[in-house]
Amino acid sequence: MDFVKELRAKAKAANKTIVLCEGEDKRVVEAASVVVKEGIAKIILLGNEAKIKEFGFDMTGVQIVDPATDPNVDKYAEILYKAREGKINKKTNEPEYADVAAAKAYLQKFASFPTTGKEGKDKLDNTMYGALMLKAGVADGFVSGACHSTANTLRPGLQVIKTAPGVNTVSSCFVMVAPEGGNKYLSQGVSIFGDCAINIDPTEEQLADIAIASADTAKKIAGLEPKVAMLSFSTKGSGADPKNGDTVGKVQRATALAKEKAPELALDGEFQFDAAIAPEVGELKAPGSAVAGHANTFIFPNINAGNIGYKIAARMGGWKAIGPVCQGFAKPLNDLSRGCNVDEIVDTVAVTALQA
Ligand SMILES: CC(C)(COP(=O)(O)OP(=O)(O)OC[C@H]1O[C@@H](n2cnc3c(N)ncnc32)[C@H](O)[C@@H]1OP(=O)(O)O)[C@@H](O)C(=O)NCCC(=O)NCCS
Repeated sequence: MDFVKELRAKAKAANKTIVLCEGEDKRVVEAASVVVKEGIAKIILLGNEAKIKEFGFDMTGVQIVDPATDPNVDKYAEILYKAREGKINKKTNEPEYADVAAAKAYLQKFASFPTTGKEGKDKLDNTMYGALMLKAGVADGFVSGACHSTANTLRPGLQVIKTAPGVNTVSSCFVMVAPEGGNKYLSQGVSIFGDCAINIDPTEEQLADIAIASADTAKKIAGLEPKVAMLSFSTKGSGADPKNGDTVGKVQRATALAKEKAPELALDGEFQFDAAIAPEVGELKAPGSAVAGHANTFIFPNINAGNIGYKIAARMGGWKAIGPVCQGFAKPLNDLSRGCNVDEIVDTVAVTALQA
């Protein structure tokens, strides 16, 4: 069975409930219909029922919740207020929510925008509502971002779901799936690239967290025995970067930190990409490393390198990029690319169900 079919089959067996926040987006509505029809997960779709049905997809079995009229809004307002109590809005220097009524007003303000016209679609934002349903345990996972930016999609999660116990950094990775015919270096045809989407310039502590979290995703979602390579333009001290903030040293220190935090992991660095993936180069440049030449989980030093790297693999190499898969949240919450298609939304729902 190919990787994506297997992913969907595993999600089906998990039988989780996923909230999709963007009922105003045709692709999301179609994906909801496909997910339920194929039994991949149960779906709660947020939005105005009449508008959702206007798209013309079969909504049998899809639970539609309209935050503008949901009788449970008081419960979610209470949860929002408690989660953000004492937090100050950076722009106004006032409390984010003065009381539960202010939290309720915030939720209903976004929910009650019309879904059409200049004033409508751009402002309609049920992302916080979905995050609160996840926090309340009404849903097991959250998927959004087809028509909202990454920052707007993740911020409610960062604010109310927060990190898992013992985790300091929310990060992301892509599950990269080889084109037909596989790949000579990666026999399973699957690998992990992190963090290509969230942490713009991670500190060495964050980079170590990203590596450990990506190894976990490699195991849980990609079914890999992770071999983690900390990437750089330098292999084991072959290069240095003292004039630009010691970017090589950052990767070296992150490697040491990750080894200290997760000594059981097969993790090493710093490596150039060829030393990480190609046995003949790994042996030459990093002799004695158990990871060099055999890595399947690649950790980029910053979001520039990671984001460019995964897009090169996708566009020039024909690899399918599933994700970004978020990691480190206390509950599974995933962001879609705004260019996503229906299949990609369905795959993200499947990944989210497996994280739950
Ligand atoms: C992820 C991102 C949205 C965070 O947004 P932000 O505006 O920096 O968020 P804030 O600083 O307001 O932080 C909100 C909360 O999240 C926490 N937080 C922010 N980033 C975090 C992270 N990576 N891990 C854990 N917590 C984080 C903050 O500590 C803060 O907590 P608090 O309000 O409870 O005290 C931001 O880093 C970002 O825009 N990243 C790039 C996304 C992007 O454009 N990707 C494009 C490629 S697809």
